[in-house]
Amino acid sequence: MPDAILIIEIHAMETVVSGIRSTGNLHLGNYFGAVVNFVKMQDKNKCFFFIADYHSLTTHPVPESLRQNVKQVLVEYLASGIDPEKATVYIQSDLPETAELYLLLNMNAYKGELERCTSFKEKIKTQRDNINAGLLTYPVLMTADIIIHKANKVPVGKDQEQHLEMARTFTRRFNRMYNTSCFPEPQAYNFGASLVKIPGLDGSGKMGKSEDKGNAIFLSDAPEVITKKVMRAVTDSGPDKINQKKPESIQNLFEIMKAVSAQDTYMHFDEMYNKRVIRYGEFKKQLAEDMIKFTAPIRKKIEALSKDEQYLRKVTETGAEKARESAKKTLKEVREIMGFRPF
Ligand code: TRP
Repeated sequence: MPDAILIIEIHAMETVVSGIRSTGNLHLGNYFGAVVNFVKMQDKNKCFFFIADYHSLTTHPVPESLRQNVKQVLVEYLASGIDPEKATVYIQSDLPETAELYLLLNMNAYKGELERCTSFKEKIKTQRDNINAGLLTYPVLMTADIIIHKANKVPVGKDQEQHLEMARTFTRRFNRMYNTSCFPEPQAYNFGASLVKIPGLDGSGKMGKSEDKGNAIFLSDAPEVITKKVMRAVTDSGPDKINQKKPESIQNLFEIMKAVSAQDTYMHFDEMYNKRVIRYGEFKKQLAEDMIKFTAPIRKKIEALSKDEQYLRKVTETGAEKARESAKKTLKEVREIMGFRPF
C-alpha cells in the first residue's frame, strides 16, 4: 500500500531550526561548513532557517546597516540553494513570539551559568566597553529560537556547541519545572562526513570573516578579487624531500582545492608536490580559476536576487507567516502550562 508508506514518512519528519547571524558576508568556509548541510536537510525535514537579527544587536549596528546586513545574508543563502518552497525562511525579528518566550525563559536562566559560557567570557575580553545584558543572555534567546518550533535537530558548527548544550539544559529545566514533555530536547546535528572545514588563506587556522581581509574568499567576491587573494596566499619555498608531509600553509591550499576543484586536478598537483616539481604560481592560478568557476553561478544569483526586492519581500512575508503559525501554537501552550490562564 503506497499510501501507508507516505504517511509513515510524514510522521517521521523531524523539525530542524537554525539561525544565521546577520553579520558579514558568506565565505567558502560557511558554504562548505554549514550551508551545504542546510540545503541537504531541507528535503527530508521540516526546516526553519532564520536570520538572527536580534542577535546582531549585541554589537549595536546602525539602523541602515541592520537592514542591509539582513538583506545580504538573506540573498546569499537563497543564492546558495536554500529553497523557500522547501524550508521556512524568515527574519527573527518578524516573530515577536520568540521575544516573549525569551522573556519567560530568562526567569529560569541563572547568572552564574550564563557567565560561565565561553563565548561570553571571550566577549568580556574583546569588547570590554560593551558587555550588555543581551550578550549575557544570548544562549537564552537562542533557546527560544529553537524551542519555539519544538525543534529536534539543530545544525550548528563547532563554535555553537556550548550554546546548544545550554539550550538543552534550559529545555530540560522547563520540562522538569512544569512537569511537562512540551519540548523535545534539541540535538546538535550535521551530516558529519560531508561537512568540510575550509582553512583560510593566511597559512593557519580556518577561514573566518573576522580574520585579516585576505584570509577568506567570499561568495560575492569578483573574479579579480579572488585571484588577488589566492595569489597572495601564504606558501613556503617548496618541498625539500620527495613525498614529504605538507606544512600547514600548503596543506590548507590543498584542502581548499579538494573542495572546489575536480579530483584529477587535485591529484595532479598532489603528485607534483610529492615529486618536488610543483610550481606554486601555477598551482595557485589553477586554484583561483576553480574557485571562480565554483562561485560564479552563486555570485550571479546574488546579483540578481539583490535587485529583486519584490521577491525578497514575498519570501520573508510568506516565511514570517508560516513561522508565526508554528510559534503561536507553541507560545499558547507555554502560557497555559505556566499558568497564564484567562479569568
Ligand atoms: N548563535 C548562532 C551563531 O552565532 C546563530 C543562532 C541564533 C542560532 N539562534 C540560533 C543557531 C538558533 C542555531 C539555532 O551562529
